[in-house]
Amino acid sequence: MKIILKKINRPIAFFDSGVGGLTVYAKLKKLLPDENLIYFGDTKHMPYGEKTKEELLEYADKIFEFFIKKDAKAVVMACNTTSSVIYDTIKNKYDLKIYPIIQSAAGIIAKLPAKKIGVFATHATVNSNVYKNEIHKHNSNMEVIQIACPEWVRIVEENRLNQPQSILQVEEKLNEMLKFKPEKIILGCTHYPYLIDILAKFAPKEMFIDPAAYFAQYIKDDLTKNHLTEIADGSEEIYVSANPEAFQQSAKMFYEINKLPQLVTFD
Ligand code: DGL
Repeated sequence: MKIILKKINRPIAFFDSGVGGLTVYAKLKKLLPDENLIYFGDTKHMPYGEKTKEELLEYADKIFEFFIKKDAKAVVMACNTTSSVIYDTIKNKYDLKIYPIIQSAAGIIAKLPAKKIGVFATHATVNSNVYKNEIHKHNSNMEVIQIACPEWVRIVEENRLNQPQSILQVEEKLNEMLKFKPEKIILGCTHYPYLIDILAKFAPKEMFIDPAAYFAQYIKDDLTKNHLTEIADGSEEIYVSANPEAFQQSAKMFYEINKLPQLVTFD
């Protein structure tokens, strides 16, 4: 008799340079509470938005190896920068489902009732033009204005949200964007939704779009379609490559992590 071993309880793995990807993680956890989840915050190499493609590929290689050892069934690129700079290069490299945030959410963003939209993102994401190109695949009439806000990532990671200097830095970039009169503004870096209360001091909250909501729904639908969802234990493993205490503290706004994240280094 042939025994077929069915693999069960394989986790869904997420990664980002830090706490940003938790904006996606928290949303998927709500949609699929029984799935086992792993999160890796590469805090040692933050900010990704200032790194070269070669550096990002090197980090991703190690992270994917780690996820494969953990027997992950899917990897969520909860990071706009890696989605825009390295997704195309690595999408067929691993025998895993890979979900990149921009490419997964662009179809829905392109249908928003707006002729002109702004995108706040990292230098790497803006320079890649992936937001513009992906949106135009679905709607060539939508005008896309992109502005890089690299300093915002550190404001979030270093938990400096309440400092007057941080508020000023956010306001300055927002004013620069508002001159173009966009109808909606995409928070095109997973760290930026942490700044929503500051942004909402200067413009209506409804103006800002966090792609994480669309992205999490897309992942759930796609996993379901591919028969990859399961009732597991709802277990969670959170890893970082540096500063677990700071990570736990900064994460609070989106995700309360009860246990200190585990420190993992690959070199
Ligand atoms: N949160 C990531 C993104 O969505 C990376 C930010 C960074 O480390 O520069 O782009």
